[in-house]
Amino acid sequence: KPIVLSGCQPSGQLTIGNYMGALKQWVGMQQDYDCLYMLVNLHAITVRQDPLALRNATLDGLALYLACGIDPNQSTLFIQSQVPEHAQLAWVLNCYTQMGELNRMTQFKDKSAKNVTNINAGLFTYPTLMAADILIYQADQVPVGDDQKQHLELARDVAIRFNNQHGDTFVVPKPYIPKFGARIMSLQDPTKKMSKSDDNPNNFVGLLEDPKKVAKKIKKAVTDSDEQARIYFDPKEKAGVSNLLTLLSGASGRSIEELVPEYEGKMYGHLKTDVADAVVALLEPIQQRFHQLRDDQAELDRIMLEGAEKASARAAKTLAAVYDKVGFIPRP
Ligand code: TYM
Repeated sequence: KPIVLSGCQPSGQLTIGNYMGALKQWVGMQQDYDCLYMLVNLHAITVRQDPLALRNATLDGLALYLACGIDPNQSTLFIQSQVPEHAQLAWVLNCYTQMGELNRMTQFKDKSAKNVTNINAGLFTYPTLMAADILIYQADQVPVGDDQKQHLELARDVAIRFNNQHGDTFVVPKPYIPKFGARIMSLQDPTKKMSKSDDNPNNFVGLLEDPKKVAKKIKKAVTDSDEQARIYFDPKEKAGVSNLLTLLSGASGRSIEELVPEYEGKMYGHLKTDVADAVVALLEPIQQRFHQLRDDQAELDRIMLEGAEKASARAAKTLAAVYDKVGFIPRP
């Protein structure tokens, strides 16, 4: 089976954007691929985190992965910091990545512009750690949202560079980006990506939010001032409406093509009500399962341990090959 790897940062609450762009795809890939899914807490500390909040967000994330349908008997599910090989490979890859390449990363530019008081070296080398996450498992496919495309390009470039210098070592990974849902937009500003770290909570839907609040937020979503209130899919001309259609499609499992004709002659309010209902219907069972799982710490511990052991055994093989190629002497 081809290998799939992906992860989310446990920095705050996962959103419906994370679900549509990533988690939903992950669940669907479990049958046909050898999947590894993780929570990237090493990446999370590139932005200042409260330690207790980070611990809780990591466990919440783990329980949410499970509640969304990631099956630890089928996939390898783990916490990044519990597999030390990621950080070890990241160091080597740092030495095969140019400053100029990292300087071009739009996420670094955005994040450092937003947070001028903490532009740390980890934020800068974030993409080489991500490359290590992927390359250490020889992943073939990486299911991510649109915003991670550039990071993936870098991972490919670094893999190719290392292979050229030292002979075939890494599989060169491909991004797997869904046609719809790869870029869920902010509810109040549909020209901006929905983000879990947004200051305005009305901009995002958290997967663990109270369904009543979720419905309210969706009904308040910004659309546009088209006097005829036409409902069709065009992310440029109709950013808000297209985002609502994408959410409806992702939550209901029905295609955009199928949905659009049903809204001919209807009002934006009608669409919003349907989106709210569909998203609530998606979230309710997930939240129910989440609460059961989250309260069972012993079970979460068992899953973490098993996942870390499985992941570590695989990661160690690639790391040993890399260390050998660069000329490190194994510990006698
Ligand atoms: P993160 O934690 O920002 O987001 C996790 C995943 O969710 C996707 N995503 C979205 N998709 C659609 N619409 C949105 N509004 C939206 N917001 C987020 C992201 O594209 C991502 O797939 N660097 C990564 C984490 C990472 C990783 C990896 C991913 C670290 N190592 C290795 C894949 C492979 C990140 O910050 O994702």
